[in-house]
Amino acid sequence: MKKKALILGIETSCDETAAAVLEESSENVPNLLSNIVSSQEKVHKKFGGVVPELAARSHIDKIDLIVNAALKKSEKKLTDIDAIAVTGGPGLIVCLSVGLNFAKALAMTLKKPLIVVNHLEGHALSPKLITNLNYPYLLLLISGGHSQYLVVNNLGKYRRLGTTIDDAVGEAFDKTAKLLGIKFPGGPFIEKYAIKGDKNRYDLPKPIINKGGCNLSFAGLKTAVLKISKTIKNNQDKYDLAASFQKTIVKILNRKTEIAFQQFRKISHKKNNIFVVAGGVAANKEIRSNLNNLSLKQNFQPIFPPLDLCGDNAAMIAMVGLEKFKLKQFNELSYPTKPRWPLDPKAPFLKGAGVKL
Ligand code: KG4
Ligand code: ZN
Repeated sequence: MKKKALILGIETSCDETAAAVLEESSENVPNLLSNIVSSQEKVHKKFGGVVPELAARSHIDKIDLIVNAALKKSEKKLTDIDAIAVTGGPGLIVCLSVGLNFAKALAMTLKKPLIVVNHLEGHALSPKLITNLNYPYLLLLISGGHSQYLVVNNLGKYRRLGTTIDDAVGEAFDKTAKLLGIKFPGGPFIEKYAIKGDKNRYDLPKPIINKGGCNLSFAGLKTAVLKISKTIKNNQDKYDLAASFQKTIVKILNRKTEIAFQQFRKISHKKNNIFVVAGGVAANKEIRSNLNNLSLKQNFQPIFPPLDLCGDNAAMIAMVGLEKFKLKQFNELSYPTKPRWPLDPKAPFLKGAGVKL
């Protein structure tokens, strides 16, 4: 019987040191034997954001422990591993270098293939860890650094339909949280505050809601939140602002998703379209339930990764690694880190002043 491929995944692109062991399966989905994530929340909390130098140091301190923990949990030995998949970008160069160099050293010592993975492709394929997904599908990727609508045509084949022209959704959540006095990363706390708040209390702007196709913008919303945050007197005001902010994000994403659906239908001509929502912000329950309902109404099958696979992890990196392993898409040990690595290299850069939508 043919040996089932065993992939070690490593992720260090930002502030999570992560390792996972994934085994090929004859079933629809591979077996995730271990998935260890060590977050640096405590390291960066007092600085209000990720400090690259500190993040890199923490990765250096922990990477061997985390990889060993992942191997131990999987009950496999390093010599059982068939390939090492590692995030090569996008992300913070000092952080990416830690994981990539560690993976290169392992690949060289074990004489096993190195597979360099795009972090965003990891998010894009993360639902494949729980369900069989056929291409093409529509993807909304919402994380701390990226907010994009993409057509996933195949492994490595992406077409961007829309992107943010300023902040990412997760960034908007984190900045709003900071204005409410919540320590970094505040996104998940906005959701908790919002439960106790009146979402209709503050009327907030929805930038470019009626133009720019399914491109997104959150800078104007952030400015409005900043203004209101200066008038806040008590906790109830905070809860109300969190709820109003979250409601506004939901409305923006609902409208822009409708536009992305229209655009996707023109390309795919399929009856059963799939809509995947991935990335850290996909853990937000309000966003999940609203996009779920919208999809069902518009004949798209919604797919969300389970909550523990929304944020950064190495299981998704191993998932891409496994797909590439089957196609023998290996990389040289000289492969560089890619701090900027768009999934659709042909899509225009849309950030900054003077952008025409
Ligand atoms: O994918 P991810 O873990 O890292 C990046 O690749 O950026 O996403 C992290 C982002 C952060 O901005 C965090 O605040 C946000 O996801 N986030 C949330 C929630 N959980 C994480 N935002 C809103 N609601 C949540 N429940
Ligand atoms: Zn991410």
